[in-house]
Amino acid sequence: MTFVTMGPMLKRAQKAGYGIAAFNMIDYNSARSIVEAAAALDAPMIVQVSVKTIKHWGFKPIATWVRMLAEDVPVPVALHLDHCNNVDTIKGCIDAGWTSVMFDGSSLPFADNKQKSEAVYKLTEAAGVGLEAEIGAIGGVEDDKFVAEDSAILANFDECVNFVENMPNLAVFAPAIGTAHGFYKGQPKIAYDLLKRITTAIPIPIALHGGTGLSQEQFDKCIAAGCAKVNISTMHKHRFIEGFIDVRKQNPKLEEPLPFLSGQYEAMKNDVCDMITAFGSKGKASHAAGLEG
Ligand code: 13P
Repeated sequence: MTFVTMGPMLKRAQKAGYGIAAFNMIDYNSARSIVEAAAALDAPMIVQVSVKTIKHWGFKPIATWVRMLAEDVPVPVALHLDHCNNVDTIKGCIDAGWTSVMFDGSSLPFADNKQKSEAVYKLTEAAGVGLEAEIGAIGGVEDDKFVAEDSAILANFDECVNFVENMPNLAVFAPAIGTAHGFYKGQPKIAYDLLKRITTAIPIPIALHGGTGLSQEQFDKCIAAGCAKVNISTMHKHRFIEGFIDVRKQNPKLEEPLPFLSGQYEAMKNDVCDMITAFGSKGKASHAAGLEG
């Protein structure tokens, strides 16, 4: 299938009560494991890219890899830019063929975040690209951004309503609800009541950041309350490294490089399949793509 924009898929997923996985890709092998896991389970998929990864590879190789992979599978795949506060990077992604971008102005005062998010919204609407925008402060490390546990701030309900008022076609909204990027040290305190108030008042799908380490029960409750995009990065990064190292441990004398990539690919793909199953999006490719009545 050719690329799709994530907004319409997420609306369908939210309505039907399943979550679409959004994995942060690292390189071609990682992107391939993500897209081919989705194809193996007939699931929709969002391949998202951190700014650091774009700085490493450049816009064009990433867009080319993911487009090529997407065209070879019969499931809908969106290419998304994860947390970004730089408008030039956002424009670079749009020009290179990304189907959605995230503007993360959450470290700015509310009024500045709102004003800058609306400016990027105008840009993405004109380009036919989806937008994700965030408020509150999601804890942990993502890309070059670090929010200490005691500085993480839940989104304020009234600000959420005010924030999205001029962005009716926002593809996905990311209010901080108590989850955090990276491995959890204790149990996250997820603000389910706040999440439900937000989804009752705002008809926009919600992004669940900080998916690594959440339990099936936590996924189920968040997805049932309206989280349609479920982000996984740390788990995938970990498997990228461990998958490679495990091949070395099992074959200390191996000199051929390709079996390392195959072992790494299988390890990453298994994780992606597990998460698709956990989010309930297995078998939902046609539904998410709007091909079912
Ligand atoms: P994790 O790194 O906790 O999986 O979170 C990913 C994320 O939310 C990316 O924006």
